Amino acid sequence: MSSANTNKQILLKKRPDGPLTTDLFELAEAALPSPGTNQFLVRAEWLSLDPFMVGRMRAEANYAQGVQLGEVMQASAVGRVIESNNGEFPVGNLYVGMFGLQEYAVSDGSNVSLEVDPGRAPASLSLGILGMPGMTAYFGLLKAGEPREGETVLVSACGGPVGSLVGQIAKIKGCRAVGITSVEAKRRYAIDEFGFDEVVLYKDDQGNPLPKAALTERIGSACPDGVDVYFDNVGGDIYDATLPNFNIRGRIVVCGRVAAATLSDSSQDVGPRDNSTILVKRLRKQGFLVADYAPDKVEALDQLTAWLEEGSVRHREDVVDGIERAPEAFIRMMRGDNRGKQLVRLDPARNE
Ligand SMILES: NC(=O)c1ccc[n+]([C@@H]2O[C@H](COP(=O)([O-])OP(=O)(O)OC[C@H]3O[C@@H](n4cnc5c(N)ncnc54)[C@H](OP(=O)(O)O)[C@@H]3O)[C@@H](O)[C@H]2O)c1
Repeated sequence: MSSANTNKQILLKKRPDGPLTTDLFELAEAALPSPGTNQFLVRAEWLSLDPFMVGRMRAEANYAQGVQLGEVMQASAVGRVIESNNGEFPVGNLYVGMFGLQEYAVSDGSNVSLEVDPGRAPASLSLGILGMPGMTAYFGLLKAGEPREGETVLVSACGGPVGSLVGQIAKIKGCRAVGITSVEAKRRYAIDEFGFDEVVLYKDDQGNPLPKAALTERIGSACPDGVDVYFDNVGGDIYDATLPNFNIRGRIVVCGRVAAATLSDSSQDVGPRDNSTILVKRLRKQGFLVADYAPDKVEALDQLTAWLEEGSVRHREDVVDGIERAPEAFIRMMRGDNRGKQLVRLDPARNE
């Protein structure tokens, strides 16, 4: 726990180049910040660890500005307003914002994405199924993937918050849902808890990735009628292995590229060219960013909340306690050792 009036922070110390390690980060203590004109101070209660953070750690240009060395690592969080000079963000209210990996943050509201209603659902869900990952699955599948009843939807990283919801929404829409994941424990809960029809492991019993041809065959056996929608959360060799299994006019939703996280930059992310398959099978391959759908977020959140309340969808959280554990938990999640939405819980009574 912090001593009074300090703000523990996780700073970016080095840029990644190869496997992610905890020494890329540094724990620091700063003075508690004060809000200026039109600003407010939040005390973070939940920190979210998400794959997009890898992109923010790199020097390479991305769809959003990255973190400079020595700066607080960017991350989403749920924070409660404890001091405010901005009438739109009153003391006591809870918000989701890009508050960073730190215990306290000053904001003017421009980095806030959602107001949290803890009376409706636990606040942590606003970082998972009722937040950015939930909306990613919702819009990515329904607007970019356009699944039709009776089709087969394949999704990678199917044990995480995005992939597990893609499978569940696919089932709601009358599709066959097939997942891809790394280990039997995740395969089991994807089937038992999330209702996937089948889940393919892309690693063998020793934890080594299967040769592409073997994975293509496994995917083919799990999708006997072919693949109509592939919701790609990872890219890399798994993407290549899906190509022979597509049906004519299949859709590929390019949502994430976790498999490239250990490369120094995206110029190293090379694979077989896919134009031939795309042409012959008339596939549609679409990049997807959840931020593009921000104007429609109320629609998604109302629908996801209704499905959650009626028990049509489920979620899983993997929680660690204390900001000190954020780097280790982030790396665990990127390695695939998380068992649901990766969160850090902070003690709301600290500094009181
Ligand atoms: N485009 C957008 O707007 C948007 C928004 C939100 C999220 N996303 C993307 O959605 C994807 C899923 O996010 P999430 O929060 O639900 O993450 P997550 O599934 O909780 O965690 C990432 C997972 O990726 C898998 N993985 C790690 N290394 C891999 C590798 N080398 N090859 C294949 N899989 C690997 C692991 O699962 P396994 O054990 O299954 O391998 C790991 O658990 C991420 O790519 C994220 O960037 C995109």
